[in-house]
Amino acid sequence: MADDQAGSAEREPVAEAPPSPGRREALLNSLVAVGVLPGAALFAGYAARYLVPRSHRRDAEVLVGSVDDFSVGSIRNLELFGQRIVLIRRAEGFVAFGTRCSHLGCFAHWDGQLELEGEPQPGGFYCPCHGAKFYPDGRVHSGPPPEGLPPFTVAVREDLVFVTVPVYEDPLGEA
Ligand code: FES
Repeated sequence: MADDQAGSAEREPVAEAPPSPGRREALLNSLVAVGVLPGAALFAGYAARYLVPRSHRRDAEVLVGSVDDFSVGSIRNLELFGQRIVLIRRAEGFVAFGTRCSHLGCFAHWDGQLELEGEPQPGGFYCPCHGAKFYPDGRVHSGPPPEGLPPFTVAVREDLVFVTVPVYEDPLGEA
């Protein structure tokens, strides 16, 4: 009788019934909703960002003044669409260069007294960050920049001076 009591105390654990197909399906659906769908949405976002260029470029022609506003030899610092530009009126016409240095992004400036080895006359662009010098036509004279200063197109029409600058727009409307 004591054995009977002990035997009844050691009952076999009752196995849980496997989830019914309906519960299993619901569980699977919630796992998909929690994990897979947000992952897919994230992936789609990255894919769209990768496939659609972050920004596209258009050129904008900006009126910067009349010819008489610039005497021959004058140097004018401009900021157009966030780009710093030096506009120079020379005897032969206008030239313009972006001043962001291709080395580490500092801004170069025009220095009329800058001595350039091999050049008969002083004058050129100088980047103060690491001492780079540029010829008056924007090419690198000396220093670490891998590229010269980019030229910008200048047009004169009916005594008005226009500078063409690239403008970058995000097709997805993000900054
Ligand atoms: S950033 Fe212009 S020389 Fe280094």
